[in-house]
Amino acid sequence: MAKLEGKVAIITGGTSGIGTASAELFATEGAKVVVVGRNQERGQKVVDEIKEKGGEAIFFQADMNNSEDLDALLKTTIDTYGKLDILFNNAGVVISGPLESFKDEDWDFVLKTNLRAPYIMSKKAIPYLRETKGNILNTASMAGLRSHSNGYAYNTSKSGLIMLTQVIARDFAPEGIRCNAICPGITQTPILGTVKENEVAAICSTIPLQRMCDPMEIAKAAVFLVSDDASYITGAALPVDGGVTI
Ligand SMILES: NC(=O)c1ccc[n+]([C@@H]2O[C@H](COP(=O)([O-])OP(=O)(O)OC[C@H]3O[C@@H](n4cnc5c(N)ncnc54)[C@H](OP(=O)(O)O)[C@@H]3O)[C@@H](O)[C@H]2O)c1
Repeated sequence: MAKLEGKVAIITGGTSGIGTASAELFATEGAKVVVVGRNQERGQKVVDEIKEKGGEAIFFQADMNNSEDLDALLKTTIDTYGKLDILFNNAGVVISGPLESFKDEDWDFVLKTNLRAPYIMSKKAIPYLRETKGNILNTASMAGLRSHSNGYAYNTSKSGLIMLTQVIARDFAPEGIRCNAICPGITQTPILGTVKENEVAAICSTIPLQRMCDPMEIAKAAVFLVSDDASYITGAALPVDGGVTI
């Protein structure tokens, strides 16, 4: 039996990388998926590919930093599929740099997108998740578990997201709502920018498993955490990082 049969899932940042791989796998496992992002063209392509394979999905264009978009996202989800079982807060951005020249507006933008948006989205989704005894999954990072040079805003946002995960997990466990985080290592997605060949080798030499992660390997862990297979797991921050944080 498919692991997410009959479930309705919102995946933010579904238009690229880890979110796209997750949207594909969630749909393969029987979920109806609401693919969320700002880029209409990429989002529609993800949905078309899911439908070609016999899955069910819609695209919803939203900026996670726009509260009105989030209200409309939830309304469309309920109007279309009647309920919400899974909220996957996955959208995120990276800006790094030396402390003394780091722009305050970049700090605000990263913290807003990576931490405030999941907080607002979770708050708005809880009434619907209460009805389904659903769950929340947040994409944190290995950067939330350890420091990196110049990671002032990014590492802080992801560390905060792990704590947000734990507080939500604690407060809503009595109602049967789980909340977990996934902590990817270096994963081959557009967020890495233009990493050069020689840099790839250098990066991989620091990873115990000696290679970068494929987005589908994160998606597989995500399916596990949002499925009933993880029914006794809440408040976890699961590293999927090739051993980088051991
Ligand atoms: N790749 C890695 O090595 C790695 C490692 C650890 C953690 N992560 C985390 O994994 C998550 C997914 O990243 P990725 O690697 O898949 O990168 P990606 O390919 O660049 O995807 C980022 C996604 O976030 C969405 N997004 C960003 N800002 C948004 C906003 N304001 N509103 C709506 N959507 C927004 C983008 O959608 P649009 O462009 O359509 O707006 C895109 O779908 C992020 O939270 C990232 O921090 C990645």
